[in-house]
Amino acid sequence: MNKKICMSAALVSLGLGLLALGPAVDAQKTKGKTRPADTKSLMKGVIQPNCAALGGLIKDAGPTDDKAWDKVALHAVVLNEMSYVVMDDGRCPDKEWALAAKTLRECSAKVLECAKAKDVDGAQGAFKGLTGACAACHKAHKAK
Ligand code: HEC
Repeated sequence: MNKKICMSAALVSLGLGLLALGPAVDAQKTKGKTRPADTKSLMKGVIQPNCAALGGLIKDAGPTDDKAWDKVALHAVVLNEMSYVVMDDGRCPDKEWALAAKTLRECSAKVLECAKAKDVDGAQGAFKGLTGACAACHKAHKAK
């Protein structure tokens, strides 16, 4: 192979490599590298229902008995755990994603703390931050 052909072959393979890289980064967001769970299913099956239930429990005057506060704590821990899951298995594409996961983690931990203290105002404030994490990640990474 002469030098010129060799160079163009290198450029072609670089180009193909970059083409392959684009969809690969995208694929990480919609599904991890090795586990079967796609991101959509985690959102629909775990994150969304727990977030909606949590929001319903703490709205207005908030929970009125221990049982309801226990449910608040339950949804908060599940959402907290999910903040780790979205970072696992090569899913995280960039720092916006990582920051949103961190916000979800910190705010759900704060909701849990407030549930233990039966602090409605605190829980509502932390929940606002929590839903801000959903919005931030979706703005950057969810297809419109
Ligand atoms: C770290 C990023 C990230 C965070 C945080 C996040 N999401 Fe998502 N979410 C996504 C991505 C990416 C998709 C699109 C997945 C796809 O279409 O394959 C999505 C999709 C969804 C969907 C649509 C599922 C469908 O049927 O298409 C819902 C509902 C959802 N998220 C709810 C939430 C809620 C509620 C929160 C906050 C408690 C949240 N998400 C936090 C990344 C995130």
